[in-house]
Amino acid sequence: MKRVLSGIQPTSDSFHLGNYLGAVKQWVELQDGHDAFYCIVDLHALTVETDPALLRKRTLVSAAQLLALGISPEKSTLFVQSQVPQHNQLGWIMECMTGFGEASRMTQFKDKSSKAGADSARVGLFTYPMLQAADILLYQPHYVPVGEDQRQHIELTRDLAGRFNARYGQTFQIPEAYILKTAAKINDIQEPTAKMSKSSGSGAGVIEIMDTPEANLKKIKSAVTDAGREVKFDVVEKPGISNLLTIHSALSGRTISDLENEFAGKGYGDFKTAVAEVVVEYLRPIRAKAVELLEDEKHLLDILHQGSAKARVVAQETVNATYKNLGVVL
Ligand code: TRP
Repeated sequence: MKRVLSGIQPTSDSFHLGNYLGAVKQWVELQDGHDAFYCIVDLHALTVETDPALLRKRTLVSAAQLLALGISPEKSTLFVQSQVPQHNQLGWIMECMTGFGEASRMTQFKDKSSKAGADSARVGLFTYPMLQAADILLYQPHYVPVGEDQRQHIELTRDLAGRFNARYGQTFQIPEAYILKTAAKINDIQEPTAKMSKSSGSGAGVIEIMDTPEANLKKIKSAVTDAGREVKFDVVEKPGISNLLTIHSALSGRTISDLENEFAGKGYGDFKTAVAEVVVEYLRPIRAKAVELLEDEKHLLDILHQGSAKARVVAQETVNATYKNLGVVL
């Protein structure tokens, strides 16, 4: 079985529909037929100022949502990055393999540091991609399912792995980014030409998994639509309607043209009501499951501790091989 690994940051009180349809849904599918490792990357969340109570809460709510969305602890290894100290160990080695200029060219660093201002950006933000490379290489995965925005980090990871192997002998599997063409790209429903994201926009255009069904219903009913009256997929002329068609299709499993036919001759209002219903009914049991998991914190922690214990075994083998090849005295 080919191995996959991915990670998600516990930086919000809820994942949104874009996180699910763009990433986590693929994670769930990949559990079948792959040896899957999924990591809640809490150390990466420390690269910006964090509140301790919030970090803890968000780590647990992330875990609960991943489980509720279908990540199964029997099928895959779900774990918390900080519970596997090998990430820090290999992270350092990766930092020592990376050129300063190379790291300076990472676009995510450039974006985030320019937003923070050069003086308040942390060194951890600069070394973030090297920790991410360690997250990946520790598990020797074939594939790393990620969104398009992570392509450059995966390229760096491949470069570092190749460089290490060439210099110190075969140590790491060179992983491939697994960027699904079919993964739905979900946009903000108030600003449908921009990606659905918590860090931009007002929040009114972001459908959150942990929001109440009532709140989401209201949000979708007030989604922006476009000029004209026809429910038709056309990203240029009708970005709002196209985005809602994508959302409906991804959750209902129906094709876009099937939906266009159903709503031919009907108005935007009817269509939005239908989208709202599909989304709300899809998310209702997921939210309920996540809430239930959060109510039994001990059980939730047990699941994570078990995952982290499995991860540590694999990660330690890679650290041993890395140290041995580097000449570290073991
Ligand atoms: N940087 C990734 C993001 O922002 C999160 C991440 C950290 C990750 N480590 C990873 C993704 C390892 C894949 C593999 O989405």
